[in-house]
Amino acid sequence: MQNYKKDFPIFKNNPSLIFLDSTSSTQKPEYVIEWICDYLSQSYSNIHRGLYDIAINSEKMYFDSKQKVADFLGTHDLKEIIYTYNSNYALNIISQTLRLNKVLKTGDKVLVSIVEHHSNIVPWLILKEEIGIELEFVRVTQDFDIDFDDFEKKYDEKVKVIAFTHVSNVTGKIFDVERIGKLKRPDTLFIIDASQSFPHMKLDVPKMNCDFLFFTAHKVMADSWLGVIWGKRELLEKYKPIFSGWWAINEVKKECFKPGALPFKFEPGTPNISGALSLLKALEYIEKIGWYETVESIEKELIEYSLEQFRSRPYLQLIGNTESKKRVWVFWFYIQGVHALDIADAMAENNICIRAGHHCTEPFMNYLKLSSSARMSLYIYNSKDDIDAFFKILDTNFNPTWLTK
Ligand SMILES: Cc1ncc(COP(=O)(O)O)c(C=O)c1O
Repeated sequence: MQNYKKDFPIFKNNPSLIFLDSTSSTQKPEYVIEWICDYLSQSYSNIHRGLYDIAINSEKMYFDSKQKVADFLGTHDLKEIIYTYNSNYALNIISQTLRLNKVLKTGDKVLVSIVEHHSNIVPWLILKEEIGIELEFVRVTQDFDIDFDDFEKKYDEKVKVIAFTHVSNVTGKIFDVERIGKLKRPDTLFIIDASQSFPHMKLDVPKMNCDFLFFTAHKVMADSWLGVIWGKRELLEKYKPIFSGWWAINEVKKECFKPGALPFKFEPGTPNISGALSLLKALEYIEKIGWYETVESIEKELIEYSLEQFRSRPYLQLIGNTESKKRVWVFWFYIQGVHALDIADAMAENNICIRAGHHCTEPFMNYLKLSSSARMSLYIYNSKDDIDAFFKILDTNFNPTWLTK
């Protein structure tokens, strides 16, 4: 099976490193790192203002980055792509824009799923505090899929926004967002958190019938502090931005200003230029290795292999899909009587990186009555050897049958 470890300098520089925490953030390929180093050392410039070559070239690449994102999302309209800092910021910008433009008012309801990451809960709790909206949580089924009976029961006339993750960062379940898109009424906005799906699969925004979608570049092999919002053009044109400033305006007088045109209306000030270019290069890298077909085929094989290993060890409780269908390569588990931090510690001592804790999903952990859990996740640079090393540490430290031998 092919893996792409050789393309990632971190593994050349740390040969014993086993990185199993890509759901948190992905490593960066040489293609992205070298390109950004060259850009910063040879042709960096601010954008939107200079008439000299390096400024014009930087501006062009900033546009190219947005165009590439729009193409990857199947919308092809770069004016619908807004750059911000990360997914948390993206949803705060969207939620506050909906408040400012009175799309959400006192008594309106926002529907989210119980598995949501904090970043798709807290911005709505802020609006609950600020203007008295209601926030309702849709349950999941036994195999962690959306409970559509519960969804339809809770989707009453008060609901003005549905905000769901596409893929859970803990269970790895892929939600059927197209089905939500089909159920959505014209008086409701549908927002998708694609933070965990964008690195794993090709997204087709028109098919999803959503109004906003967001993701965070550091999970797609690009640099951190770059978030992406896709918004429907007619909405972005209509809405007033929550903040503004240089380049997001058309005209400023002493008394007033006129907001600028898309896509910069929502992007005041100097953006994360090298971050935007790193996203362009990361997406080019995905194209170079054979698009999502390659990512998906490696993913499928490593999921099957990991699940086999989990299933053959009764002392490990895997939470989430125990089948390979409709899931990505994140594995969430616990061991009865063992604190997850002890598992993460044992891994860290052996240079294996995993996550332990609540994974930014406290309401979901409470719903499942879980206090702590561990999470191992994979990406294109992982191999079966990495997975074997992970299970070897679990077996030697925590397998009760081995320990009593
Ligand atoms: C599903 C999901 N949404 C949002 C986020 C937040 O991403 P960021 O920290 O880059 O804002 C994460 C990060 O783990 C995530 O997994």
